[in-house]
Amino acid sequence: MSSFTESETLKRVKPSPTLAVTAKARELARQGKKVISLGAGEPDFDTPENICDAAIKAIKRGETRYTDVDGILELKQAIVDKFKRENGLEYKTSQVHVAPGGKPVIYNAMMASLNPGDEVIVPAPYWVSYPDMVLLAGGTPVVAIGEMETGFKLRPETLEAAITPKTKWLILNSPSNPSGAAYTADELRALGEVLKRHPQVWVLTDDMYEHILYDGFQYATIAQVVPELYDRTLTMNGVSKAYSMTGWRIGYCAGPEGLIKAMGKIESQSTSNPCSIAQWAAVEALNGPQDFIPQRAAVFQKRRDLVVAMLNNAKGVTCPTPDGAFYVYPSIAGCIGKQAPSGKIIDSDETFASELLQTEEVAVVHGAAFGLSPFFRISYATSEAVLTEACSRIQRFCASLK
Ligand SMILES: Cc1ncc(COP(=O)(O)O)c(C=O)c1O
Repeated sequence: MSSFTESETLKRVKPSPTLAVTAKARELARQGKKVISLGAGEPDFDTPENICDAAIKAIKRGETRYTDVDGILELKQAIVDKFKRENGLEYKTSQVHVAPGGKPVIYNAMMASLNPGDEVIVPAPYWVSYPDMVLLAGGTPVVAIGEMETGFKLRPETLEAAITPKTKWLILNSPSNPSGAAYTADELRALGEVLKRHPQVWVLTDDMYEHILYDGFQYATIAQVVPELYDRTLTMNGVSKAYSMTGWRIGYCAGPEGLIKAMGKIESQSTSNPCSIAQWAAVEALNGPQDFIPQRAAVFQKRRDLVVAMLNNAKGVTCPTPDGAFYVYPSIAGCIGKQAPSGKIIDSDETFASELLQTEEVAVVHGAAFGLSPFFRISYATSEAVLTEACSRIQRFCASLK
């Protein structure tokens, strides 16, 4: 009997490191350790009751069968209305695609469009899944660094330098996972000026964290502020983060009809359709009351302020203040080269994270997973009490480095 071997494509791909950290923390907790896991990227709030009720009603109405492949018309209309209301963007329902989560939306877009050798510019620090999804679809990720000094944002000159005749996509993510950085309308316009010179480049903008913004930050998305790019922009979003619906698995996007049709072809031969019940819940999420969203963002902002202040008091750590999302991405440049209590030298952010987990039982994700070192990411989507305890442990760990 021959043993199993992965496909050549899959060999190029790594499993999600954030899910791996969470699994490791769970394993230590099972062994009785008092682990605090700050690895997972999901709100700790419950899905609002009106959304749950809409799902229950959908079940009772018998909405339990296959649906249209890339979303029921009622949800597509709710998405069209959302883009008009919140982003000033005009789409038809035929320009909308719904998939089982934001992740499959991006995956479908890559699968629908990439040929071998096509390049996709992924600004770092990036959400862990972008480069691997590009690889799975047969493309080549091209990492373009946004340094801490420029707020982790891609500068127009860096974008210009990364573009080649083979560039197919630029992936933008604002506010960003992992840095929390958000692009202003002017910053998007400056990137738009570069993109206007390169008509072969399309833009996938991942707006998942649109509603989790702080200090009155004015949200902007690129198709809105650079209308010349509308015909080559895929504006992607979802209900996972804004509506605390990570488990329901609904993501969506809007863009040019040809691309949307091609993405539907993939869905028709893979998932068939997103869960019928979750789609009806998403209709209620988008059409129902929105007032809890800023209330929840205010809670996140308090947590952000707590975490930023405490981490800036940890020796060797510098923690910039993010504009949105629920992550901080502190630098540990001041810890590199020091010795941990175990005797190990902190030679990378990966060693920092594993020593922190062993010594103080706090699980964070190392920066290398997001393409920019030496940093680590904390998700602060948890209570202030837990965050205070976790940050005290990090302070103690950093103080113990010699
Ligand atoms: C930037 C970003 N995009 C997309 C997603 C995927 O969202 P979903 O859970 O809807 O697949 C996430 C989830 O962590 C994310 O952080």
